[in-house]
Amino acid sequence: MASLSPAIALLHTKAPSSNSNAPLPPQLDSDDESKIFNVYADEVDDPRDTQRSELISLLPEQVYSPDSKSIRLAFAPRRTGSATQPAAHTLDQHANGSALSVELCVDASPGCGGIVWQAGQILSNYLVHKGRDSLRGKSVLELGSGTGLVGIVAAKLDGKVCITDQAPLLDIMRRNVDLNELSHSCQVAEFNWGEPIPEGIPTPDIILAADCVYFEPAFPLLVQTLCDLSPKGSKVEILFCYKKRRKADKRFFGMLKKKFRWEEVMDDPCREIYSRDAVTLLQLYRI
Ligand SMILES: C[S@@+](CC[C@H](N)C(=O)[O-])C[C@H]1O[C@@H](n2cnc3c(N)ncnc32)[C@H](O)[C@@H]1O
Repeated sequence: MASLSPAIALLHTKAPSSNSNAPLPPQLDSDDESKIFNVYADEVDDPRDTQRSELISLLPEQVYSPDSKSIRLAFAPRRTGSATQPAAHTLDQHANGSALSVELCVDASPGCGGIVWQAGQILSNYLVHKGRDSLRGKSVLELGSGTGLVGIVAAKLDGKVCITDQAPLLDIMRRNVDLNELSHSCQVAEFNWGEPIPEGIPTPDIILAADCVYFEPAFPLLVQTLCDLSPKGSKVEILFCYKKRRKADKRFFGMLKKKFRWEEVMDDPCREIYSRDAVTLLQLYRI
């Protein structure tokens, strides 16, 4: 049986936690669902489904705003807990200054990128774990940003960020940049993979990509764009968070290995948990 992304499962199941009178969270209608999940129609069976509740406790809780149009995610650095007992991520931690919170509009109508995906949350979590020193003043480019979550987290950590996606997503990305008052440090741009790097896209020190391996015709386009952005000899750092869903995904890695080598990021305290859910965080190096 095909499994739902936990991020989407949360959209369906999490009740607003802080205020019992708050309206119900926005729900995807069945058309939206089929639009999204048809992409994953041939997902592999995943025997790890039984461990999803553990992963859900790792991912930030999605708290809905009173007007039901946006969600709030809070990412906390893991100071306590172990891989088997994840530290809690709550807005209370934000109140005492230890978590980073992001307000996001989510809307499935412009396409699958309009909602928050598990790999995006996991990559965001890792950036928070690494802290401001890894991003301060760096030029950060996110590919396939969707709602803009990962890039917005990078901007909140003092990166100079450009979040990119296809035209239908630009509106929601701009709304999310505004919601988080980041227009000074987070630029929004259209960037279709496989096309020449658009004018105005800053040369990146760091490239971020989360959950961008899901549509086979786009595999060579994404590899091309990664190559264009990291010419041989460049020192650009690429963080690539990937969820294995389909057997066809290995074709992407077959193409990628002609141009890049990669290593799994080992210093993420949450790695043990999300790897059981077939999510991997990789660092890519141009060869
Ligand atoms: C599964 S969503 C992930 C969104 C976001 N990174 C996250 O983790 O929540 C994949 C994203 O890749 C974008 N995308 C797909 N094909 C693309 C292409 N050819 N050029 C640019 N972006 C593309 C989609 O629009 C979508 O926003």
